Amino acid sequence: MARSAWGRASALITGYPDAASAEALAAVAPREQLLFDFGWKFQFGHGSDPARDLGFGFGQGDFAKTGEFNFSKAKFDDSKWRQLNLPHDWAVELPFVHDQVQNSHGFKPLGRRYPETSVGWYRREFDIPAGDLGRRIWVEFDGAFRDVLVFVNGCFIGRNDNGYAPFRFDLTDFLNYGAKNCIVARVDASFGDGWFYEGAGIYRHVWLTKTDALHLGKWESTVRAEVSGDSATMTLGTVVRNDGKQAENAKVSWQILDAAGKTVATAEAPAQQIAVDGMATFTATAKLANPALWSVDAPNLYSAIVTVESDSRTRDAERVSFGVRTVLFDAEKGFFLNGKSIKLQGTCNHHDHAGVGAALPDRLQWFRLGVLREMGCNAVRTSHNMPTPEWVEGCDRMGLMMMCETRQMSSSPEGMAQLEAMIKRYRNSPSIVLWSIGNEEGQLQEPMAEQGAKIAATMVRRCHELDPTRVVSAAVNGNNQRGVSDAFDVIGFNYSLQLPDAYHKEHPKRPLYGSETSSAISTRGVYATDPLRNTVNAYDSVVRWGETAEEWWKFYGTREWEAGGFAWTGFDYRGEPTPYGWPSINSQFGIVDMCGFPKDTFFYYKAWWGKEPALHLFPHWNFAGKEGEMIPVWVYSNLDEVELFVNGQSQGSQKVPRLGHVEWKVRYEPGFIEARGSKGGKVVLTEKRETTGPEVAIRLTADRTEIDADGEDIAILKVEALDKEGSPVPTAGNLIGFKVTGAGALIGVGNGDPNCQESDKEPRRSLFNGLAQVIVQSTKRPGEIHIEAVKEGWDGPELTGAKLVITTKKAVPRPAAV
Ligand code: GAL
Repeated sequence: MARSAWGRASALITGYPDAASAEALAAVAPREQLLFDFGWKFQFGHGSDPARDLGFGFGQGDFAKTGEFNFSKAKFDDSKWRQLNLPHDWAVELPFVHDQVQNSHGFKPLGRRYPETSVGWYRREFDIPAGDLGRRIWVEFDGAFRDVLVFVNGCFIGRNDNGYAPFRFDLTDFLNYGAKNCIVARVDASFGDGWFYEGAGIYRHVWLTKTDALHLGKWESTVRAEVSGDSATMTLGTVVRNDGKQAENAKVSWQILDAAGKTVATAEAPAQQIAVDGMATFTATAKLANPALWSVDAPNLYSAIVTVESDSRTRDAERVSFGVRTVLFDAEKGFFLNGKSIKLQGTCNHHDHAGVGAALPDRLQWFRLGVLREMGCNAVRTSHNMPTPEWVEGCDRMGLMMMCETRQMSSSPEGMAQLEAMIKRYRNSPSIVLWSIGNEEGQLQEPMAEQGAKIAATMVRRCHELDPTRVVSAAVNGNNQRGVSDAFDVIGFNYSLQLPDAYHKEHPKRPLYGSETSSAISTRGVYATDPLRNTVNAYDSVVRWGETAEEWWKFYGTREWEAGGFAWTGFDYRGEPTPYGWPSINSQFGIVDMCGFPKDTFFYYKAWWGKEPALHLFPHWNFAGKEGEMIPVWVYSNLDEVELFVNGQSQGSQKVPRLGHVEWKVRYEPGFIEARGSKGGKVVLTEKRETTGPEVAIRLTADRTEIDADGEDIAILKVEALDKEGSPVPTAGNLIGFKVTGAGALIGVGNGDPNCQESDKEPRRSLFNGLAQVIVQSTKRPGEIHIEAVKEGWDGPELTGAKLVITTKKAVPRPAAV
């Protein structure tokens, strides 16, 4: 089952970006957007001792004169620094510390009390050709954690003070043309933004972007498609800036391409004079006949190539990906996509994954979305921060709707800057159906409700101004009666199933949905709750404030006026170890574990959210030592009826209640259990769990055995232990070592165990209830990656090793800075 989820995830995304529009852009664009991820040097600094922080802050005058930061000059000796590529999260590399205060960070030593491991220096030398003189050149960070100071060629350039919003600096005046340059980023993770694992370092992509002096404004190009009958009118807009030495007579044109790269519409805005240091807004409209609508089942995308011309020369161009669809939150009838009623079958997710922490290769973002898609999830909430661009792009391309959330609920300059960056960055993405300005702001809901109402109103106004096409909300844990809630277009409830009915009666004109629900907990593959082992059984358990999967979906899935909701959470995440503390290092809220291996509840959602007949039987049937004991046996299914057999003996048939499950209690004896599910009186699906023998061999399988040799692509391997019949042993816990050689490298390992404190980076991992994960990444050299898995340590039975080869095929890497 898990394998098909993996296959599907990978099949949903092909190529990056889609070839046809990339080619069309390349044909006109004098702009270069260079990936700036490769070839960095890294060294820890220090949060309180300047002597161990490159002398930074030793005396008074660090910022006194421009040009004196010698560590960011090309002559500086960084030969002892570590070489690495971005994205990079140093927190995941650190050992765990048994310090209760650090539970949010997953017991990683970050913060002001850990100065040795909370500051990192990144350094990179790069070439700027003489021919670039006269162009505008920016360094653009998609996000870093958290406080960043950027220096170039001895000069302080700028700072960023949050962990999730993108930021960029214009380097044009500071560069050496036709010579070496140097950029340094001091990244300080002493302060945090959240109460969950956030990572540390430059954990998203960095870009070096070069344009003509006459160029498009950043994230100013918008395409708003309004559907009427069988055509759509597109309102096109952009801003052009003149950073050159003379006034320009600029003209903007748009070329709209469908997914196959065919031009389906064009538009032009009249030329305008733009003074030196001035800017101008350009707008136009275009019609699209019979647009292929974007939807969950058919995520059709279009591209707009926006081009600026002056003096009969193309000066700048960019590609905007967009979709055509209508979205409606209705107070009485719920949610509509393209006029069709559909429930938001959503999950909330944080952004970290096993093995890599917060630094995910793009392919891993898409893999995660594929896993969620496979269980029938059609919407994700980016709790509680602005997501990475590849997550949003994945949603656009795979047909997942999004509630996109900013980190700080505040109308302060910082709060507004974060909000604006999010909206401008993502407002063309068809997947986004709802903006969220925050989550559970206890103070602003009450007792500062008056200030809360004003803060939220200012933020909502700005959202509408920047994006008049979408509604705004926030995730509220409370009664939504006053304060921040006054300003929202759509009202979200976190938990508290007793509140929405009364609210709906009192406010029949306000659309409602579940902004955060469930918080059900379970440990994958575990069928007994054991507080001594920090495990929770898989039979839909829940924390005090939460609801089981069945409870919340029976509530939100059956009220016509509810738009649906977002379960906490799709994936397990590091930090906030719930329901237990140390030695747990991650939460157990996930419907899948940290690796993306499904827990049993996954199949509840698959049955009731998916469209295909489904049947899932659990637990496994390996309970040596429990012979004669009564074991609960559950089936999740959307069929009419299920009959259970133990060693061939019927235990009776049960009708499946709508949005529920069926269960038996049976006496354990080795052998097998089997569920036979029928529809209309005919058996259509069966599933068996057999007692396995002891493990004798390792098996390796990969989501893809051929990947791109672009230095970025990955293969995600599943590691299992098999008995002599070749059946996976669901209780295996063997320690397995990995040898990775050839045209790639191991970048992380995991096993989904919330209590495992083994390293994410060492080439070994224990299986947890029969499973582990290994992530390998290509280099830019085509060839083969050889992965060998062998038993390590003295414990347990002997295992035959396994080998797997991943082919890395020649690929055109994304243009990268040198
Ligand atoms: C919510 C909160 C989430 C997470 C969750 C755990 O109140 O919004 O971030 O902490 O509780 O149940």
